Amino acid sequence: MFDSGYGGLTILAKIRELMPEYDYIYLGDNARTPYGTRSFEVVYEFTLQAVDKLFRLGCPLVILACNTASAKALRTIQQVNLPLMDPTRRVLGVIRPTAECVGEITRNRHVGVLATSGTIRSESYLLEIHKLFPGIVVSGEACPLWVPLVENNEARSAGADYFVKQHINRLLDKDPEIDTLILGCTHYPLLLDKIRQFTPSHIRIIAQGEYVAESLKDYLSRHREMDARCTKGGTCRFLTTESKDKFEESASIFLQLQDMKVESIALE
Ligand code: DGL
Repeated sequence: MFDSGYGGLTILAKIRELMPEYDYIYLGDNARTPYGTRSFEVVYEFTLQAVDKLFRLGCPLVILACNTASAKALRTIQQVNLPLMDPTRRVLGVIRPTAECVGEITRNRHVGVLATSGTIRSESYLLEIHKLFPGIVVSGEACPLWVPLVENNEARSAGADYFVKQHINRLLDKDPEIDTLILGCTHYPLLLDKIRQFTPSHIRIIAQGEYVAESLKDYLSRHREMDARCTKGGTCRFLTTESKDKFEESASIFLQLQDMKVESIALE
């Protein structure tokens, strides 16, 4: 599983809860985070490097546990790179499984998306939701400072309140009828308490982890050959492009992960 930093850990946690038997490798490109404000070309290049690394480490299946990478790099990697790298392996993203679940959750068909600038500009949520549910009204709001708040351990600080409230209010000004709010960035569940605090209580907040986990379970049950290639020893290895001590410290704060085995690696 890959993310620009710590955000994908929120997806990994839900996937491991549902399927603890598999072996996982988590790769966070913490040294180059955030991706959300970067260009298409750069996000694509960095994501491809990460996929290549995980393939070299033996992963037959890579999940881009990052909306920005899913929005900006997934399709090109699937269509252009994968056939050349190894057509038997797979790379999956997190936007499609999230879009699939909204149809059953919204009652009035007004959905809001909070995500990075890159994900909002790509309009990936709008496109994916409209493919499945053309009648849903989708409004988006980019929150460029939320990922840095998380990456810098400021998610619980009083200073975060201002920026969380500001973007929720802006989104609700765009469409006051929103009844369902997608957290379209895997870092945002780490701000969930504050997001709840500033969101009217009738609005359902969708954190992606459980939907991505369910969707992966379903995928593996439909692709038995892939399931057979995924080893099942219940282990989890953590790789970061930053210092391993920094990663261990932050991951343990956010996700109460103890005794993690973290390795520092380079991507190129
Ligand atoms: N967790 C990534 C996402 O889901 C973060 C993006 C970033 O690095 O800005 O979009």
